Amino acid sequence: MRVLVVGGGGREHALCWALAGSPLLTKLWCAPGNPGIAEVADCVPIGAEDIPALVEFARRESVELVVPGPEAPLTLGLADACAAAGIRCIGPSAEAARLEGSKAFCKQVADAAFVPTAAWARFEDADAARAYIHAQGAPIVVKADGLAAGKGVVVAQTVAEAEAAIAEIMEARVHGAAGASVVIEECLVGEEVSFFALCDGTTALPLGAAQDHKRVGEGDTGPNTGGMGAFSPPPAFTDAIQGEVMARIIRPTLAEMAARGTPFRGVLFAGLMLTAAGPKLIEFNVRFGDPECQALMLRLRSDLLPALLAACDGELARFDLRWEKLSSLVVVMAAEGYPAAPRKGSVIQGLEAAAAVPHAQLFHAGTARREDGALVAAGGRVLSVAATGPTLLAARDAAYAAVDAVDWPGGFCRRDIGWRALG
Ligand code: AMP
Ligand code: GLY
Repeated sequence: MRVLVVGGGGREHALCWALAGSPLLTKLWCAPGNPGIAEVADCVPIGAEDIPALVEFARRESVELVVPGPEAPLTLGLADACAAAGIRCIGPSAEAARLEGSKAFCKQVADAAFVPTAAWARFEDADAARAYIHAQGAPIVVKADGLAAGKGVVVAQTVAEAEAAIAEIMEARVHGAAGASVVIEECLVGEEVSFFALCDGTTALPLGAAQDHKRVGEGDTGPNTGGMGAFSPPPAFTDAIQGEVMARIIRPTLAEMAARGTPFRGVLFAGLMLTAAGPKLIEFNVRFGDPECQALMLRLRSDLLPALLAACDGELARFDLRWEKLSSLVVVMAAEGYPAAPRKGSVIQGLEAAAAVPHAQLFHAGTARREDGALVAAGGRVLSVAATGPTLLAARDAAYAAVDAVDWPGGFCRRDIGWRALG
């Protein structure tokens, strides 16, 4: 099987690492990849959003399966373009990817499918939005409707904060066109969990849950990021809760998407709040989370490749996935200045020593090779340092032992990944 993974972050490194272990694999490419991915796949210098070039490459190399990591190629129609070229792609059509691309669309589908979610309203007019905020009171959540790289959400503790968010998003347009409309939501309270299901249009298979750490600072403080660490499974996410999520959130959503003529194929990522009244949907994404994917791939015992093929071919119903009875934990190491202005070019050393820590696994994200061969920081989130263990505590200790072996003065990480479960 000839496979092309699209993307170049820690998530894509984890996907390549998992796929590289498949006996079905004959050739693995990654576009654009990164220096870590280059150890398990051939990296191709094509941007993850260059749909025509990706499809042309896949056609030329007789790629049999395309595995997109990030959402952007999906919202840009990579799955549609692959379908038109007769190439399998495990991701939703652009139409189905609107579940992530438009928060209002996500809420409409959720309501139509009776999925438990926060009460909401959408506004294109800033004054009307302000009036609604005054009527509802705080705390309240204000979101730019379009894609804003995870940064268009303000959980406002006061009415003044919510009004300031309207001014920034709708009037100053700090997220550009994504702020032409806003979704305003009831503030949900509880433990936040990311849940993943592999979908073939009609059947969904649980891929497990993880807990992310979105704020840059310890104790969940400071600005939002793409995610500073994750662990799996979250102790709060019991089998009973998973059953409820599948029955009340995932399956009804799949049925609704199919009924609309836009069946969902790919990885459905439900951002959940475990509230006192049961699990509620915060949002859908149409892909694996980063760094949640790294945590999940370390626990997957089954071969990922046949599962992805079965999802493409509508044959998930006869499929099952097996997981190691282990915990995993991922610490993201970011470049100083992240998320506002990460500094590029600092030299990273010690990765061999880190990888030699028992049960540790390193995934690259924003790394690059300098001309002299040195590994340097080239992005915000630079490394995912992950580990498994019989307990979450053991996984955490192994992950931080590996972090401590990394010699990178230009980077930083949170020292408290897992704190919600471990204290
Ligand atoms: P989103 O981009 O929609 O995932 O939102 C980013 C973060 O804001 C989420 O991970 C939550 O922590 C928080 N958030 C979003 N919507 C709500 C809500 N309705 N209630 C409470 N927190 C929320
Ligand atoms: N870690 C959250 C995300 O990938 O959206």
